[in-house]
Amino acid sequence: MDLKYLKDVAVAAAFQAGTLIRTKLGRITEVEHKGAIDLVTEVDREAEALIVAVLRRQFKDHAILAEERGREQGRPDRLWIVDPLDGTTNFAHGVSSCCVSIAFAADGETHVGVILDPFARELYVALKGRGTWLNSRPLTVSSIDAMADSLLVTGFPYNIREVMATTMPRFRRCLEASQGIRRLGSAALDLCYVAAGRFEAFWEENLKPWDTAAGVLMVTEAGGRVSDFDGQDFHRNGNAIVASNGIIHAQTLKLLQLKESE
Ligand code: IPD
Ligand code: CA
Ligand code: CA
Repeated sequence: MDLKYLKDVAVAAAFQAGTLIRTKLGRITEVEHKGAIDLVTEVDREAEALIVAVLRRQFKDHAILAEERGREQGRPDRLWIVDPLDGTTNFAHGVSSCCVSIAFAADGETHVGVILDPFARELYVALKGRGTWLNSRPLTVSSIDAMADSLLVTGFPYNIREVMATTMPRFRRCLEASQGIRRLGSAALDLCYVAAGRFEAFWEENLKPWDTAAGVLMVTEAGGRVSDFDGQDFHRNGNAIVASNGIIHAQTLKLLQLKESE
């Protein structure tokens, strides 16, 4: 498997989508609702079409799972996982915190992750067993070991109205214990920022494979840890994710464990 070639194609696809996203910020004409607060714009769909066309040209027999069009058939052991625009709510409001996320998995395991923030001009690349880079510079997670010194990040799922009762106590506990919490609105970028040592930990529920596939590899290849809320291995179809620098992982898990009275 030529990881470099797979990565180069993903990067080319990400730049095509990223250029489109950059030129369209603040110029959206169509916003549709997929759910009460779950949006999709014409740019999500156009960006996805660009990415899929690039991948298809090079890898005719690979399967592709892309957020807006679902799964396209292909070899079950070669799968591309695409979020053409992660941070759609930001984008639809003219806020530039968003990115393109592309992952490649072979035999169920993610080998390549590419995430492009077209506004900050930051390209994150992770290759299984080789590391994570930001604009060609190797990344490592932070070495902060105290929760009180940690800057955390989270996101609220689209079904937040149904899970408010468990989301808010977790949020409160983490807010009380840490230096602060950010909510950027792009799970893929949240994971990149953990990989880059900007945040010590990230948690969220109800994410989809395209939100996390590339970002999880960024964190693990940068030396961090990713699990579910119980500390079990994270699976991209799983419901809950905790990603951290590894050092504060156990402390984060403890904060996320709710007591019966909460
Ligand atoms: C969303 C973003 C957001 C997270 C949501 C995701 P989208 O993805 O990652 O940060 O809180 O749960 O669905 O819809 O902008 O691609
Ligand atoms: Ca997403
Ligand atoms: Ca998306």
